[in-house]
Amino acid sequence: MLNQLAKRNFDITPFHVMELLRRAKLLEQQGRDIIHMEIGEPDFATPQAIVDAGLKQLQTGDIKYTAAAGLPELREKIAEYYRSRYGVTVDKARIFVTPGASGAFLLAFGATLNPGDELLMADPCYPCNSNFARLFEAKAVTIPVDSTTNYQLTFDLIKQHWSPSTKGVLIASPSNPTGTLIGREMLKECIETVDQLGGCFFSDEIYHGLVYGEYAPSALEFSDNAFVINSFSKYFGMTGWRIGWLIVPDDFVEGIEKLAQNIYISTPTLSQYAALAAFDEQNLNELEKRRTEFAARRDFLYDELIKLGFEIPVKPDGAFYIYADCGKFCDDSYRFALDLLENEGVAVTPGLDFGVNQPRRYVRFAYTTSIERMEVAVQRLRRFIS
Ligand SMILES: Cc1ncc(COP(=O)(O)O)c(C=O)c1O
Repeated sequence: MLNQLAKRNFDITPFHVMELLRRAKLLEQQGRDIIHMEIGEPDFATPQAIVDAGLKQLQTGDIKYTAAAGLPELREKIAEYYRSRYGVTVDKARIFVTPGASGAFLLAFGATLNPGDELLMADPCYPCNSNFARLFEAKAVTIPVDSTTNYQLTFDLIKQHWSPSTKGVLIASPSNPTGTLIGREMLKECIETVDQLGGCFFSDEIYHGLVYGEYAPSALEFSDNAFVINSFSKYFGMTGWRIGWLIVPDDFVEGIEKLAQNIYISTPTLSQYAALAAFDEQNLNELEKRRTEFAARRDFLYDELIKLGFEIPVKPDGAFYIYADCGKFCDDSYRFALDLLENEGVAVTPGLDFGVNQPRRYVRFAYTTSIERMEVAVQRLRRFIS
């Protein structure tokens, strides 16, 4: 039957960390204590206000399809969030509630990418981006980035790599796996460059909210032509509810609506009702406390990893990741991750999951576990590398 698999299947890369997770689960079943620093989701439960809003709707039994673009009142709340947080006015007709940022990517790429189109993105980056492009027979052109540009693209890099086949550029700030931000001016210049070149600008803002220093601007502050991808997964603590949103330029509203109707009809209704509580002041205060906790974890882990001898040329400004160079200790970070798990019960994600730009030098630590647990992880790491 293998020959029945569509060609694109062979080009879609799996998550290498899954093999580690499988092994970690097995070790746990055998009674080993595993510290999970590989997981890209908050360890906090979904905030109670969101759960309560979901429960209330569940009890009515009224969980039917919604409009493909989402509940009007949720789209209005998202528009209001952009007014208060970023000072921008977004017509709610341009806002689509989606099954996570993943659903938003499918819509945005499905509406813009033709077979053979190229999409520029940084390497390292979130691995699904290039797989999504491949799904639409387009090609991700990954541009190696390093600490000199905060692991982000620049308008110079965009110009250098632009070809007649280039359809657009994707920027994720804060980035997964590096947690680094693109500067405000640079973001503006990248958007202007793509505009001048006649391309589409995609801005993955899923880690907005989880920023510990400077405020992360939205692409919408500079252009109404950007596609903005966001989600309730990370900052709002709703990974498993599968709900996010996409903001599109005016001209794309009709096309995107047709895609949403056909691909998934509507985003899970229960999750949409639950998310109505996400922007309430009390809930935002709760999320603020969590953000402060993440900031403390970032500072703790960053300092400890540096003391251990890892190289981290840019202190991450956001998300919950530290992308650390372990070249001092090994020449293969995948092996490093496997051995660290096997010998010391600490699970991390190898660089291989994030691209082809020196991946075997890096591992990603997720601080999605408490400082107490990370203290133990640091002791184990110390023993491991010595
Ligand atoms: C940068 C980035 N974009 C998008 C996603 C997809 O998130 P979701 O579909 O849960 O909203 C993730 C998940 O880890 C991510 O790290």
